[in-house]
Amino acid sequence: MPAKHALILAAGKGTRMRTELPKCAFPILKKPMIEYIVEGVERSGVDEIVVVVGHQRKVLEDLLTERVTFAYQEEQLGTGHAALAAAEALQDKEGTTIILLGDMPLINETLIEKIFLSHEKSQNDLTVVSADFTDPTGYGRIIRDRYGRVQAIVEEADCTKDQRQITEVSTGLYAIDNRILFDVLKRIEKNENSGEYYLTDIVGIMKDDYRVGSFVIRDESRGMGVNDLYAISKAEKFLRDEINKRHMLAGVYMINPETITVGHNVTIEGNVTINPNTTITGNSTIKSGAVIGPNTEIHNSTIHNDVQVKHSLLYDSTVHERTTVGPFAHLRNNANIGRDNRIGNFVEVKKSTTGSNTKASHLAYIGDAEVGSNVNFGCGSVTVNFDGKEKHLTRIGDDVFIGCNTNLIAPIEIDDNVFIAAGSTVTENVPAWAMAIARNRQINKTDYAKNLISPKTVKVDNVTDKKKKKPTGAQKAD
Ligand code: UD1
Ligand code: CA
Repeated sequence: MPAKHALILAAGKGTRMRTELPKCAFPILKKPMIEYIVEGVERSGVDEIVVVVGHQRKVLEDLLTERVTFAYQEEQLGTGHAALAAAEALQDKEGTTIILLGDMPLINETLIEKIFLSHEKSQNDLTVVSADFTDPTGYGRIIRDRYGRVQAIVEEADCTKDQRQITEVSTGLYAIDNRILFDVLKRIEKNENSGEYYLTDIVGIMKDDYRVGSFVIRDESRGMGVNDLYAISKAEKFLRDEINKRHMLAGVYMINPETITVGHNVTIEGNVTINPNTTITGNSTIKSGAVIGPNTEIHNSTIHNDVQVKHSLLYDSTVHERTTVGPFAHLRNNANIGRDNRIGNFVEVKKSTTGSNTKASHLAYIGDAEVGSNVNFGCGSVTVNFDGKEKHLTRIGDDVFIGCNTNLIAPIEIDDNVFIAAGSTVTENVPAWAMAIARNRQINKTDYAKNLISPKTVKVDNVTDKKKKKPTGAQKAD
């Protein structure tokens, strides 16, 4: 088996995208486009991956660091010029190189493997990968002679009227003998029209002296190139349908699947229900029995068995068995919620852990906290973790009752079996079995309200106490 190399061209700006981010880093289902290609290539078992970067190279380098070798194309003078930038990294190597464009995110390892195999079996020096496109606009057309042999790839701008009618296009993917590649790349001449060096020209250069064949991709979508934001939406739709179908066939019940987006690296067990308008992305796992959505976003999170999440946002977090989250909860930055918890309406949890059976049912903020089991956060309770400069830790033991509207000013420790009275602002540690009350004692000043209020309600017979008022015929007593 000859060595296998991959060369990915990703130095271009992506002018047609009209976005700040370089095109190949643009996310599809929240994952940068280039990662789909690198992942596909990695899985197909190549020996080495070289990625050509240029425009905003750092963005791509940060994404792929330690996964690939980088080559640098200083000025973007076309795909042929970009491939040549990999000379230093690749040119002395034996074997077969597959060249891919950094804007073809729908390519996968199965196809890459097939292309390598076909290239070897046919003993080609160059295999051009093409597809028959319903709408070939914008792609390079494949020119064949009357025996069906590939003669050239002609970019649309250079096509004659007749050539423009051709629907077989170049996907920009090639398998080629690595030594020949770098010889041939040096022979590419500048295109008169655009002033660029076109990789497509290798076909014309090689057709007479080498064995040039083709591999036709049957599903045209797989070969699509992404040049603008409309194409991004098409690629997303393709992937969404494909991924959702795979999950549905594996026992995931999706309601209105066209509104559900599940990322490429998400694991969902069978017997999970996903309601509409839900997005699950990153390295997320959803375990059996969970019911997710509607209107929920989950990213890089693990949801254990029988959890329910509604109308909520969960990022980089974990939720254990049978806990309910939402509506309108926000878990982020390593919120680790124990089993049988309730994280309810308008509750935010950040970088905190909870034991089992803990409840924050409404309007609470739990940040930088270690919370035990059977803790009840009353409505409006807050761990006050930030002093304007630094974040501080709150520790709460088991079986703690925190009354409504309580502020726990961190750093602070609340021991087991503590009761905190509603409305307290707790600044000191509370020992086990204590009741803490930290608010002013109430004073009722007799008749003082007469200085403050002019009553508007008309009182019958000067009777103010409702209980003394007798019900009249039609009226009912309270
Ligand atoms: C290219 C092909 C076209 C093919 C189509 C398939 C050429 C000349 N054209 O056209 O035949 O049908 O892809 O999608 O090859 N890049 C660089 N450096 C450069 C220029 C481009 O690294 O100087 C990279 C880009 O980052 C991109 C890829 O090469 O990932 C393709 O470039 P793009 O401008 O999108 O080529 P297309 O016009 O789509
Ligand atoms: Ca393209």
